[in-house]
Amino acid sequence: MSAKTYPEGEYLLTRGRYSCRTYTDEVPSAELIRKVLDGAHYAPSACNRQPWRMMLIGPDDASARKAVIDSYSRPWIAAAPYFVIVCAVDDEAWVRPADGKNHADVDVSILAEHLCLEATVNGLGTCWVCNFDPAVLAAGINFPAGVRPVVIVPVGFPAGEAPAKTRKALDDILLHP
Ligand SMILES: Cc1cc2nc3c(=O)[nH]c(=O)nc-3n(C[C@H](O)[C@H](O)[C@H](O)COP(=O)(O)O)c2cc1C
Repeated sequence: MSAKTYPEGEYLLTRGRYSCRTYTDEVPSAELIRKVLDGAHYAPSACNRQPWRMMLIGPDDASARKAVIDSYSRPWIAAAPYFVIVCAVDDEAWVRPADGKNHADVDVSILAEHLCLEATVNGLGTCWVCNFDPAVLAAGINFPAGVRPVVIVPVGFPAGEAPAKTRKALDDILLHP
């Protein structure tokens, strides 16, 4: 079935989110940002360990903003009024007994995407940013011991249109036993 046959808006959650790299000058209220963070933290995690922290950086956090901007080589990020740095706490994560795999990155990724989806349904734009320099970021922001930044999520009101989605065909990624 083609996507066009679905009613308008039905796929808001997964198709409405996109990597937003342009933001308006309007600053979202602290209440709206808090609502999005609250929604995100209902994300599932292995054994419900919740091995994560979110560092919230607002428009007035000048030195932390500079650290984010310096850590990432693309200038567009500076237009976002908020950044959420989603962090892992490896020591709090579930470790699979069978092979010792630590699930902190899995859990943190789910939290980050919940953040992006919750932002989307509240009219906000976000983008996953992992291509930052962790050393530059850590030089400008004091993360508590054991807290490891995984993804920077800029948050703001989107400017411009969402680009068309490019995805592999579902049948090209669907495996059958
Ligand atoms: C783990 C991960 C890391 C990413 N890192 C970056 C990044 O550093 N900079 C960037 O502009 N986009 C980054 N992205 C966004 C992807 O480029 C984007 O999700 C992909 O092209 C699909 O586009 P869409 O999000 O608009 O659907 C990242 C996405 C993921 C999931």
